[in-house]
Amino acid sequence: MCNNVTKSIIADFSKVSYSYGEKPVLSDISLSITQGERVGIVGESGCGKSTLLKIMAGLIAPSSGTATICGEKTPSEIRKKISVVMQSSMLLPMTIFENITMGHDYDEKHVREVLEKASLLEWVDSLPQGMHTYLGDRADELSGGQAQRIAIARAMCKDAPLLLLDEPTAALDPATATSVMASLDAFTASPITIVHVTHQVEYLKGYDRILHMEGGILHV
Ligand SMILES: Nc1ncnc2c1ncn2[C@@H]1O[C@H](COP(=O)(O)OP(=O)(O)O)[C@@H](O)[C@H]1O
Ligand SMILES: [Mg+2]
Repeated sequence: MCNNVTKSIIADFSKVSYSYGEKPVLSDISLSITQGERVGIVGESGCGKSTLLKIMAGLIAPSSGTATICGEKTPSEIRKKISVVMQSSMLLPMTIFENITMGHDYDEKHVREVLEKASLLEWVDSLPQGMHTYLGDRADELSGGQAQRIAIARAMCKDAPLLLLDEPTAALDPATATSVMASLDAFTASPITIVHVTHQVEYLKGYDRILHMEGGILHV
């Protein structure tokens, strides 16, 4: 897990800036998150929240400064150590099982457990091929809520020490959002570190810190 570098720091940003081409989006962000901490990030649309989370997820590298996540600085290594649920999730033309295990060697028992926690087990068991149902044939039939639940199950299955959430229910209707959040709560009850970007401060009850972003600057 994250036991190299400073033991208790799971995410460390030192003077991180990021530009898309000529456009500066993040400016000089320094932030340390310790293991087990729950950190919420709020701020207006376009202020750079998703860009910050993409760096934490190892999807992009800082333009300048250093991001150390779980002791790793290389994006491809960072990606191995984190779980992420974004606003809308990409399901791949593979089975439900494969969409959740993503090439890792998890057994059916583990996958059933995460399907249950994500409130998907009843639906999956109702399918003729169960968790081995090919999703390519059914992707259009899935609701946004089901797709997000599969993404949550994928994140749970990986059991990474750092969970990144980028407005995971923002694309859902309010009732579905509430029930998907309840599934997420079942997941986040475990002692993992969470960084959660959201517009809804009520989702951040019980969090250790709520940080405000404004025009690429993080107020810590
Ligand atoms: N791939 C991209 N190319 C160019 N500009 C981008 C890209 N993604 C985001 N931006 C711009 O960067 C700024 C911050 O975006 P983002 O990090 O998505 O903000 P937030 O998540 O807070 O809404 C916005 O002005 C947005 O238009
Ligand atoms: Mg965003």
